[in-house]
Amino acid sequence: MKRVLVTGGLGFIGSHTSVELLARGYHCTAADNLANTRKEVLDGITAIAGKKPDWVHVDLADPTACRAFLAQQPKFDGIIHFAAHKAVGESVQKPLEYYRNNLGSLLNLLDYVKANPACAFIFSSSCTVYGQADQLPIREEAEIKPAESPYGNTKQIGEEILRDGAKAHGFRAIALRYFNPIGAHPSAKIGELPLGVPQNLVPFITQSALGLRGALKVFGRDYPTRDGTCIRDYIHVVDLSQAHIAAMERLMQGKSQEPLEVFNLGTGTGSTVLEVIHAFERATGTKLAYEFAPRRPGDVIAAYADTEKAATMLGWKATRTLDQCMQDAWRWQQSLPTTP
Ligand code: WQD
Repeated sequence: MKRVLVTGGLGFIGSHTSVELLARGYHCTAADNLANTRKEVLDGITAIAGKKPDWVHVDLADPTACRAFLAQQPKFDGIIHFAAHKAVGESVQKPLEYYRNNLGSLLNLLDYVKANPACAFIFSSSCTVYGQADQLPIREEAEIKPAESPYGNTKQIGEEILRDGAKAHGFRAIALRYFNPIGAHPSAKIGELPLGVPQNLVPFITQSALGLRGALKVFGRDYPTRDGTCIRDYIHVVDLSQAHIAAMERLMQGKSQEPLEVFNLGTGTGSTVLEVIHAFERATGTKLAYEFAPRRPGDVIAAYADTEKAATMLGWKATRTLDQCMQDAWRWQQSLPTTP
């Protein structure tokens, strides 16, 4: 049985990926410091998969703790590295914490991969690296624009660390540039657990619809788009998780063609904020209160993926619709306790 380490394995995408790994017969070890999730997520993973991942409470950004953790573990055949701080706004307030945590954990893990070059390494990157792309849909060869936030910069620097490290030390890695992950597992046993006021659109929509928040503020209606609101590529978290397995198996089967390969993970379809709101109302039969507000600094006008490379080289395509994303997000929100 191949063994896979999922860092951030109790997080939003990490937990869904742990489920997919267990379903495919991999041994899964979830490492998480619970900075942005809860231990109960382990029960959700177990209930869906019918078996429990190993869970280790460890801070991977601490070099001593990370080294000791890895030395105690049997050899990993793959590492899927999600563990990172990911709030764009917060990263502007706490840049040093973001660089220390996000890059420190990556470097500590790569010390292990350098010593075990057969270990398949998958890195959680982001479409944020493109900024406002000059051409849409966005291809992987698109220009990497100066990062708009320390968070985005940690993803850009992370890819450069991987590229240089893989070239110098003979390991292979894949970076996956996510567009906008949304939704939840259809079982409603795992999903997104934003702590505090949600910064992202869909968790705010579901909390507002449940009466936990006031009306949704739509940040800007004067953008040069079909209805004046921003366009994004919203991808179901289960589709996204399955892409990680495809990427890891590409490495395990020795199919990768360069030290670092990069893939966009999106649906290839852009949706405006208003279209997301209408999809939510249509899919759930629930009316959403919203109002227009000024633009949010740092927002790009439009971003959606060219999906050709992932389709041909990973043999992966997103299959779930925006309506399914909304249904699953709503079912998950309704399953959560309403008292914080
Ligand atoms: C989507 C759209 C907002 C909230 C973020 C991260 C990015 C990546 C994906 C990790 C925008 C609008 C939002 C609200 C709104 N994460 N909006 N009212 O900013 O595209 O990307 O998640 O890799 O790094 O930045 O996602 O959900 O915050 O915003 O109108 O209350 O919804 O203006 O147009 P974003 P988002």
